[in-house]
Amino acid sequence: MNISEETIKKLISEAVQVRKNAYNPYSKFAVGAVLLTNDNKIITGTNIENCSFGLTMCAERVAIFTAISQGYKHFKALVLVTDDGSTPCGACRQVIWELCGDISVVIATPDYHYHITMASELLPKPFAAHVAL
Ligand code: THU
Repeated sequence: MNISEETIKKLISEAVQVRKNAYNPYSKFAVGAVLLTNDNKIITGTNIENCSFGLTMCAERVAIFTAISQGYKHFKALVLVTDDGSTPCGACRQVIWELCGDISVVIATPDYHYHITMASELLPKPFAAHVAL
């Protein structure tokens, strides 16, 4: 990946910070997500739960939908911070694939342990049909 170690550390630190805003009274599981755009803008997201559990939104999708709604279309990397270094859920993998393409995904913990994978490795056979309008 053509992103420096220093940048990765900075992005993890941003994800650690935004993770503090998680609204997670039901699961108590906090997720911080940071999306790095091609022009080096940082867009963040956290998980936001609801007492109607199915309405919960994952941190990755909050970050991606925020970025798209702000007009960003091209991304370099997505960084995720959780206590246990979890990888994105299946729904998020599909959304990452469609809206971000085959970007680098950095899976990290708050103590800066991380590994880097790719969207195509997380979702090898994506649903990619296009609806004819
Ligand atoms: N969660 C995420 O934010 N991202 C994922 O990829 C998986 C799960 C959140 C949803 C819920 O608030 C909590 O983690 C436990 O599932």
